[in-house]
Amino acid sequence: MPRAHNFGAGPAVLPLEVVESCKKQLANLEGSGLGLMETSHRSGTFQSVIDEAISRLRSLLSIPPDYTVLLLQGGASLQFHMVPLNLLAEGEVADVIVTGKWSQNALTELNKIRGGSSIWDGEGGGFCMVPSASDYHPTEDSVYVHYTSNNTIYGTQFKQVPNSQGKPLVVDASSDICGVPLDVAAHDVIYAGAQKNLGPSGVTVCILSPWAIEKANSNLPSMLDYRTQKEKGSMFNTPNTYGIFVLREVLRWIDANGGVEGAHRRNRDKAALIYSEIDSSPFWAPHAEVGSRSIMNATFRLVDESLLEPFINEAEELGLKGLRGHRIVGGIRASMYNGLELGSVERLVGFMRDFEARHS
Ligand SMILES: Cc1ncc(COP(=O)(O)O)c(C=O)c1O
Repeated sequence: MPRAHNFGAGPAVLPLEVVESCKKQLANLEGSGLGLMETSHRSGTFQSVIDEAISRLRSLLSIPPDYTVLLLQGGASLQFHMVPLNLLAEGEVADVIVTGKWSQNALTELNKIRGGSSIWDGEGGGFCMVPSASDYHPTEDSVYVHYTSNNTIYGTQFKQVPNSQGKPLVVDASSDICGVPLDVAAHDVIYAGAQKNLGPSGVTVCILSPWAIEKANSNLPSMLDYRTQKEKGSMFNTPNTYGIFVLREVLRWIDANGGVEGAHRRNRDKAALIYSEIDSSPFWAPHAEVGSRSIMNATFRLVDESLLEPFINEAEELGLKGLRGHRIVGGIRASMYNGLELGSVERLVGFMRDFEARHS
């Protein structure tokens, strides 16, 4: 089968150039004679890979020089623990803006470690929107405010950095990092699993302000301690060398294709195409409110839900894969991360038109 149009929510489509480059390096990494997965993390070859990955992240996101960039393991889910473990002393609490399943998880895990509460919760409204700044207020004694910039499951996305009223801001940017502009200096912690916009699973980007490093608790288990990870250059233990290599390749590709600005423009174009199709007919019902729509994940339903299975099955046969909505929302979800080409969305829209013509 030729390469499919991959609308999966993650691990997600990578640019073909990146996949081809990995294929080339698999048996012999940069002429070293050792394969990509067979090279020591202590070798000069790997050190230059991780150094380049971090410096490209720094320049692509304009990360202030005094911020720390770590490449960790454990996914965004481990950050649900690491953030409160590092940033909250016993008795301290944090606020969470709850805009979907992942921020619910962040709050649940925060409460296992320290204490936290939601200062806005969209569950009653079906998580079809993100709040505006006047809808929530940080609590007086909270140390930081946590939010999820893009809600992968529900297809909503913040269009502006939330107003934390001067409190440190922590963001889970797993599903839109480097796909939209990000004001790094407005945040104290940014974390993101790489497997959507930046590479394969198994690598987590963590960007920490000087405040976050300073505030980090001592006496944590070393693997969970931001300061230890900083001192060891993200190599307290053996890192995911393969994943970091792929990350570097994706970052090179983003750089060569107009940087984050270029990625954002392409992502906006893809999203505009699909949303205009969804809005063109009462055959389709969008999940997210217009002002909160994600440009990374479009979520929608067929008004006649009995048509969902035929839609998914026919799409699969045409090589349009990964379109089934998350099990807690149902319907259809088209994820359109950096690696997805506009042509794939054009194919999907063409199929939607044809499907609608045959079933309405
Ligand atoms: C916004 C968001 N946060 C967290 C996660 C969990 O990520 P991980 O599987 O890397 O722990 C996901 C996974 O899809 C996500 O989309």
